[in-house]
Amino acid sequence: QYELSLRPQKLTQYIGQSKVKESLEIFIQAAKLREESLDHVLLYGPPGLGKTTLASIIANEMNVNIRMTSGPAIERPGDLAAIVSSLEPGDVLFIDEIHRLSRAIEEVLYPAMEDYSLDIVIGKGHEARTVRLDLPPFTLVGATTRAGALSAPFRDRFGVMLRLEYYDVPSLIEIVIRSAKLFEVTIDELAAREIARRSRGTPRIANRLLKRVRDYAQVIGDGVISLTIANQALQLLQVDPLGLDHIDHKLLKSMIEGFKGGPVGLDTLAASIGEERVTIEDVYEPYLMQIGFIQRTPRGRVASPLAYEHFGYPQQT
Ligand code: ADE
Repeated sequence: QYELSLRPQKLTQYIGQSKVKESLEIFIQAAKLREESLDHVLLYGPPGLGKTTLASIIANEMNVNIRMTSGPAIERPGDLAAIVSSLEPGDVLFIDEIHRLSRAIEEVLYPAMEDYSLDIVIGKGHEARTVRLDLPPFTLVGATTRAGALSAPFRDRFGVMLRLEYYDVPSLIEIVIRSAKLFEVTIDELAAREIARRSRGTPRIANRLLKRVRDYAQVIGDGVISLTIANQALQLLQVDPLGLDHIDHKLLKSMIEGFKGGPVGLDTLAASIGEERVTIEDVYEPYLMQIGFIQRTPRGRVASPLAYEHFGYPQQT
């Protein structure tokens, strides 16, 4: 996958998230010193902040293989059995969207995590029997946008829980400049800053914007990404100065125009703009809350004075 070439392979190449990096560095080193597998790790936080990248880095640093799957992909206990029975000692099993595993699978996973054993029921009715599979020690790395959606007993089985935070602009500038180098495209510092500022604290968005700005620079300009080129391209992409896109706009304008700024319930809001509730909850709302445009109240979501100001609406009184 082309995208993969942008992903850092080692912890030292990973920009930002210093607390997460510091913790992982120590736990990885300790596990290696003791020649043990790393304890199970839960990575949580908004999408696009590098959870999958970190999982690959963990495997890389531990010198083991990584098997990647996702919660929705594991439908039956047999699916899980097929994957874990092919693991080698110390391997990383990465389960993305781990909050979407069914309860039944979760329960098969408990003994696998605790004792490296898997109890599988085979056959039906009178023929049914349980087969116990012994597994090699392995590290489960789970990723989720919402740690709260995991049951408490499941959460408790992860020895390491790490929360990824939105990136600050200096870190995103570094990421944009690093990616531009990998793309072999020249970028001005100011252009990198502009892309970083409009990336909603999210490396995945920064890299996506960089790619589109690069396209624009190659076709409209001379291939160099200057501030002027970046601004023109970002305008074409309908990414506003705060990095809000047309869905953010639709959401906020609906709150302000349709619901007098709220409070408005999430389901009502989702229906009014034709988006999925979970998409708003996991993707759009977290950043809008982070920058103080939306507040959560017991009666629903409220648009803040900052949001009114951003769109030039008169302040609500
Ligand atoms: N690309 C995406 N996220 C990154 C990060 N945190 N560090 C370096 N490169 C990245």
